[in-house]
Amino acid sequence: MNNITIAIDGFSSTGKSTLAKQLANHLGYVYVDTGAMYRAVTYFAMQHNLISEDFFDAEGLIKKLPEIKLHFEFNAELGFAEMFLNDVNIENEIRTIDVSRLVSKIAEISEVRAKLVEQQQAMGKNKGIVMDGRDIGTVVFPDAELKLFMTASAHTRAKRRFDELAEKGQLVSYEEVLQNVQERDYIDTHREDSPLVKAEDAIEIDNSTLTKKEQFDLVLDLIHKFF
Ligand code: C5P
Repeated sequence: MNNITIAIDGFSSTGKSTLAKQLANHLGYVYVDTGAMYRAVTYFAMQHNLISEDFFDAEGLIKKLPEIKLHFEFNAELGFAEMFLNDVNIENEIRTIDVSRLVSKIAEISEVRAKLVEQQQAMGKNKGIVMDGRDIGTVVFPDAELKLFMTASAHTRAKRRFDELAEKGQLVSYEEVLQNVQERDYIDTHREDSPLVKAEDAIEIDNSTLTKKEQFDLVLDLIHKFF
């Protein structure tokens, strides 16, 4: 099978990254978590006091964008690539609920999107890539051979995210996580630049009642059938 581009889009906590990692490992492809890149820019903005719950200096962030250098490094022990901001590993820092609360505001800024999309397209120019996010099948790789659009009920997703955070020792209530998931869904689907929408040629997968293995097998079947 020739190398293809696999674009996975969908709402927060729909298991996009789990599926993307499984596919990348199985196919020997590169996996890119574009949400991590938006989270990294958010972390940068927080460090430079450009954003908080009630303040956002978008112009200030746009001016500082040239100072932001992002790259991924594969960690063989973890089995996935970690996010680096200006050569510092920030993989743990970007997974906090504080970053989750602010990231969708950062992702509304067109200048931020343009910078990250350019880097994402460069990473995928040789195909053999699985990329997940919100605009991969619509904006980053509109010609991707396989496009998946993942959905699940807000409650299922909040429960998954809550369990993940609890496992990492982060103390947040289920209600807070649910509220965050719903707020991000709203902002992500209503923003002007590259809103989250299902590409016309994407295959929708509702995984509310699927196990990780069932979902992986289903997608692998699709790949074997069509490519
Ligand atoms: O995938 P994850 O939930 O980590 O993404 C965090 C946020 O980054 C999303 O809620 C969305 O606001 C933004 N994002 C985006 N476009 C992408 C990936 C993520 O706008 N391609």
